[in-house]
Amino acid sequence: MTRKLVLLRHGQSQWNLDNRFTGWVDVDITEAGRKEAVNAGQLMREEGLMFDVAHTSVLKRAIRTNFTALDEMDQLWVPVCKSWRLNERHYGALQGLDKAETAAKHGEAQVKIWRRSYDIPPPPMADNDGGHPKFDRRYMKLDEHALPATESLKTTLERVLPYWHDAIAPQLKSGKTVLVTAHGNSLRALYKYLNQIADDAILEVNIPTGIPLLFDLHEDLRVKSYRYLGDAEAAKKAAEAVANQAKTRS
Ligand code: 3PG
Repeated sequence: MTRKLVLLRHGQSQWNLDNRFTGWVDVDITEAGRKEAVNAGQLMREEGLMFDVAHTSVLKRAIRTNFTALDEMDQLWVPVCKSWRLNERHYGALQGLDKAETAAKHGEAQVKIWRRSYDIPPPPMADNDGGHPKFDRRYMKLDEHALPATESLKTTLERVLPYWHDAIAPQLKSGKTVLVTAHGNSLRALYKYLNQIADDAILEVNIPTGIPLLFDLHEDLRVKSYRYLGDAEAAKKAAEAVANQAKTRS
């Protein structure tokens, strides 16, 4: 029997709108992002998806998107598990900076490497930076040394995978339909793992906000097929727009 998994990137956030690197900064979704979440719920409802469980990060843009989409499906009763392991990749010292300005300063090629390479992280956040996760109550119970000051996609995948293997995969194998509402890069990491994408090929993968990505999986969780719900051309254009966020302004 086919297992169904949906990966959903949060709706547009305030810093997506402002074109700023976000990472672990807990910004909310905009009104446009809320509408994206409603639309995602409508698309998943029209697809006939009946979720048994949902997973989000501990960041409000994902939590609110997940709530809004499930509400639109009249499935707010579905249990939701929250984990820091689904957080967006930590963007280190880039958090808060304008993407286009950063490209103007360091060059588009360098910023593309920081945004999309597999194993090259952005410069780290200073240890005494007030925004360091060690000062945030939601991470207090974690080993301080496990908390990142920056992350590459590789190290992001390394902290996402234990959650995939321990929490999500067993639910899918038992026949549950699962929604994972998270972030552009934590989902790129999962996408890379599921589709066994080469380290150099992941550079060109971008995930748009608020468009459900439906995976049909074999019982052993090998991928049968996957597709964005709704207008495929719209999803393609939205992904291209994400790629172009770090183009220098002419
Ligand atoms: C962020 O963390 O800035 C965004 O959620 C993802 O940004 P990116 O598309 O530049 O990686």
